[in-house]
Amino acid sequence: MITLGEGNTPLLPAPRLSERLGVEVWLKWEGANPTGSFKDRGMAVAVSRALERGAAGVVCASTGNTAASCAAYAARAGLSAVVITPRGAVARGKVAQARATGADVREIDGTFEEAHREARRLAEDEGFVNVNSINPDRIEGQSSAAREIVQQLGRVPDVLALPYGGGGNTVAYASGFGEQLPRFVLGESERRSETFASAIRIADPVHRIEVGRVLERSGGVCIPLSEEQIESAWRLVAHEEGVFCEPASAAGIAAVAAAEVHGSVVCVLTGHGLKDPDATERIAA
Ligand code: F0G
Repeated sequence: MITLGEGNTPLLPAPRLSERLGVEVWLKWEGANPTGSFKDRGMAVAVSRALERGAAGVVCASTGNTAASCAAYAARAGLSAVVITPRGAVARGKVAQARATGADVREIDGTFEEAHREARRLAEDEGFVNVNSINPDRIEGQSSAAREIVQQLGRVPDVLALPYGGGGNTVAYASGFGEQLPRFVLGESERRSETFASAIRIADPVHRIEVGRVLERSGGVCIPLSEEQIESAWRLVAHEEGVFCEPASAAGIAAVAAAEVHGSVVCVLTGHGLKDPDATERIAA
């Protein structure tokens, strides 16, 4: 097993957010993972399996976090990593992480979707394993977060709030909870292809159909969010609770603020604020 100590992240009570939103809010702090995002849970499994299968290397397309995680776990496994990113669209900290751990970072003049197609082609042509969330090993690894929440809280929460980019994490949580699903409340950008929350700058979610099923099964809802809603949720969780996440990570909180919710609400904060120093300049302003 290739591991960097991922998982077992804190579930933090959020008393001030709870008071403000009129529900019992908990924060699942995934920025505490080794490379600073939830991707590490899935990457540990996916890279371990790739190594087991004798892969020549691993490849992914990414808005940044998958790239940083893929690079670190590949380094740990002694595999080479190629990451394909849309040019100029990835937060600086994430590119630095991927380069520092030795990945071959290839920027393309195109969207995340185009990067995704290129990553799949590379995997097929060159015997690399694709470690995007279309790889079931990623989903399996990420599903561990749902089981941890049940353990930490002592029960399934009434509501689970998540940012919605490509939808892999939503699918993973649903699989981890199994039969008894909390109500899923997803936050997505209403400006998917250009949002300042670059981690979720994804025009066309690859897991859209499965996400639709999760929403239906759980009585959930997906809330399109303005840039202002994401930014103010991001500022709120930092100022009121002292948790500094990256902008995309606050989309779940913004969705909870906009939706009708009751009972216990776990908001998953998917990545660390230090990944995006340019956004940090703005929050500090
Ligand atoms: N939050 C963060 C911090 C992310 O990096 C991502 C996705 C999401 C939320 C959305 O998760 O796609 O499973 O719905 N980041 C991917 C990447 C696309 O390449 O790092 P999702």
